[in-house]
Amino acid sequence: MNAKNRVAVLLSGNGSNLQAMLDQQPDYSYDIVCVISNRPDAFGLERAKAANIPAIALDHKAAPSRQVFEDTLIAHIERFAPDWIILAGYMRILSADFVARFARRLINIHPSLLPDYKGLRTHQRVLGDGQKKHGASVHFVTAELDSGAIIVQASLMIEVNDTETSLCQRVQAMEHKIYPMAVDFLTSGRLTFLGDQLWLDSDPLDQKGYQVNEQQLLASP
Ligand code: GRF
Repeated sequence: MNAKNRVAVLLSGNGSNLQAMLDQQPDYSYDIVCVISNRPDAFGLERAKAANIPAIALDHKAAPSRQVFEDTLIAHIERFAPDWIILAGYMRILSADFVARFARRLINIHPSLLPDYKGLRTHQRVLGDGQKKHGASVHFVTAELDSGAIIVQASLMIEVNDTETSLCQRVQAMEHKIYPMAVDFLTSGRLTFLGDQLWLDSDPLDQKGYQVNEQQLLASP
C-alpha cells in the first residue's frame, strides 16, 4: 500500500477539529505529521503531544514582524514535507505570499454556509438576522478571507430555542465529521481541480461543494 498523504495542522486554540481528525485517522488516507500553533497555550498542542505527534509552539507575539513570523512558520512546515496544510481554528490572517506558496494545498473550516457570514461571530450574526439555516463549510484558502472554492458544506435548521452556545455545539458536531471527510477527499485523490472547477470522483462539484445535512451526519457512525 502507498504511504498516506502527509498533513500539517495549524491551530490557535482548543483543537477539537484536530482531535476529530486524529480519532478518525485510522479510517482515512491521511497522516497528521505535525501540529503548529501561534499560541503557546493552545490546548490543541496538548492533544498533539498525547497522540505522539510533533507539537510546535510559535508565538507570533515574540516575532519582530509578520514577515519573520511567517518565514519561521514556513520553515517549520516544510521540515515535515506535508502534502496538505489544514487550518483548524487558526486565528491569524495569513499573507498573500503564504497563501500563494501553498496554493490549492491549504484548506480551512468556517462556521457558516459560505459565501454567507464570512468573518467572526457567525452564530451570533446568523441568530440576530433571524436565519432559518446555518452550518459549516470546508474550503480552499485564497488571499481573500473565507472565499476559496468550497469542498464540503454541512447545514442544519435553526430551532426556536437555539442560542449562540447551542448553535456552536451543533455546528461543531458537524464539523467533526465533515472536516476529516473533506481532508480524506483530498488525500485519497478523490477531489481534483480541472482548471478552476472542482471534481469529486467523476462529478463536477457545484459552487457550494458537496452537500450534507445534520440528519445525515447524525445518522452516520
Ligand atoms: C471551529 O469552529 C472552526 O469552524 C473555526 O474555529 C473553530 C475551531 O475549533 N474556524 P477547535 O479549535 O477545532 O475546537
